[in-house]
Amino acid sequence: MDSLDSQEHSNFISESKKNQTGQGGLDMFRNRLRKNKKEMAKRAKQNSVQSYRLYDKDIPQVPVVIDLYKDINTTKEYLVFQYFRGPFDYSEDGNDRILDERISTIKEIILEVFQSSIAGLYVKLREKKKGSSQYEKLSQERKIITIQEGNAKILVNLSDYLDTGIFLDHRPLRLKIGRESSGKNLLNLFCYTGAFTVHAGLGGAKYTTSVDLSNTYLEWAEKNLLLNQLNLSMHQLVEADIMEWVKENREKVKYDTIILDPPTFSNSKKTGSIWDLPKDCYGLIQSLIDYYLSDEGVIYFSTNFRKFQMESESIEGHVEDISEETIPFDIREKKIHRTWKITKKAMQNA
Ligand SMILES: C[S@@+](CC[C@H](N)C(=O)[O-])C[C@H]1O[C@@H](n2cnc3c(N)ncnc32)[C@H](O)[C@@H]1O
Repeated sequence: MDSLDSQEHSNFISESKKNQTGQGGLDMFRNRLRKNKKEMAKRAKQNSVQSYRLYDKDIPQVPVVIDLYKDINTTKEYLVFQYFRGPFDYSEDGNDRILDERISTIKEIILEVFQSSIAGLYVKLREKKKGSSQYEKLSQERKIITIQEGNAKILVNLSDYLDTGIFLDHRPLRLKIGRESSGKNLLNLFCYTGAFTVHAGLGGAKYTTSVDLSNTYLEWAEKNLLLNQLNLSMHQLVEADIMEWVKENREKVKYDTIILDPPTFSNSKKTGSIWDLPKDCYGLIQSLIDYYLSDEGVIYFSTNFRKFQMESESIEGHVEDISEETIPFDIREKKIHRTWKITKKAMQNA
């Protein structure tokens, strides 16, 4: 996912070196949090949004991300704070003392600013790990709440994984899918917890197919569909490797909307297959255009892989960058993802 580059990290460190606690940066962080607490809440209300990014590396010296999730059943609010481990977070003796100190300093400031207005604070450490997956379980606490996004209710797990079950940056695209789905069918590839599918279903999709390799996430997607009173007979959930599924189901159904929001890389223990986005995406997109997309249909392809360069000429179809439309108000990092709308041919007035 996201990472902290050396420059951002040295900002934090040089500040810390000036005086032991890096007080200047930390004071700015505290002030910014106080300001965002009010202003982002106001902007969220104006945008009818209840769960949103509250702090997005606003102060260069404190490059962390803080998201606010509101439980619609209790109206309690929770914060999830992501710390991106950088090159200067390692102690010489190999223990995590420096890292732990930095995290607890930031945590204390967050708690000081929010005090009793939040019901809980969850810390996620993002770091490059060799050989383990970002989808591995971190905890067994099972702190699961229900959040509201447009018409949809989505189950969010605040405690047990690095990701919570919803990627806040794709809110605009999910809402767009909800608005565009009436009477259509939708294919959701790499569906994760099915949030796009839920929006399509609530928006009146005739039927949907959602594919993912992980049974854990498909069960979560099923719970999300049921929570929204969506009929499972119209919303098929398929456990499969995307590349295999796409090879095996050609020409069976043509879809009006296809969501393709894959990870950059995945290495499946189950099937032994490797998904490498820059290498594999063009072949996959072409198969989708040739065998799965209806004549007037649309593929929404998105990635958060910064180094990805779209080679439109590798695709026989019309490719339009719609990223500006899919970045929400609460994300300061405008390059968090890019999105392309892909059709068989240039569509007029679409
Ligand atoms: C970044 S998430 C996708 C985000 C999702 N599109 C959303 O909107 O929330 C990655 C998902 O891809 C799934 N996945 C990874 N490799 C896969 C593969 N080869 N075939 C099917 N699913 C895969 C994972 O299980 C995980 O649910």
